[in-house]
Amino acid sequence: MAFKWKDSLTTGNTTIDSQHKELVNAANELLEACSQGKGREEIVRTGKFLLGYTKKHFGDEERLQLKSKYPDYDNHKKLHEILVKEVNNLVSDLESQGPTVVLVGKINNLISGWVFDHISREDIKVATHIKNS
Ligand SMILES: [Fe+2]
Repeated sequence: MAFKWKDSLTTGNTTIDSQHKELVNAANELLEACSQGKGREEIVRTGKFLLGYTKKHFGDEERLQLKSKYPDYDNHKKLHEILVKEVNNLVSDLESQGPTVVLVGKINNLISGWVFDHISREDIKVATHIKNS
């Protein structure tokens, strides 16, 4: 099952939105690699790509927040750090255990829960702030 972009996830900031769509694509590639029974090496490669892209995106988003003097920057950065840790753990677990049902479930929960909630609750506030700054 692939993640689908929903209009409610659109923040209105074109940089942030296009990177979020890339993140969803990267998560879908990882899920696809797991469900198609690709070798562990290929699965870990897609997992590492997702991790790298997540870090790049958060870095870019944090720079935009600093530039626009976003008042909730510190809290937002902490949320990003938690997510990076989660994805990092996930990739190491995939490396050691392969795509178990539990791990694939974790990927689903992380993206459809954590990431989608973060975008619709937090990133929309950021985009609105940037627009009005
Ligand atoms: Fe964010």
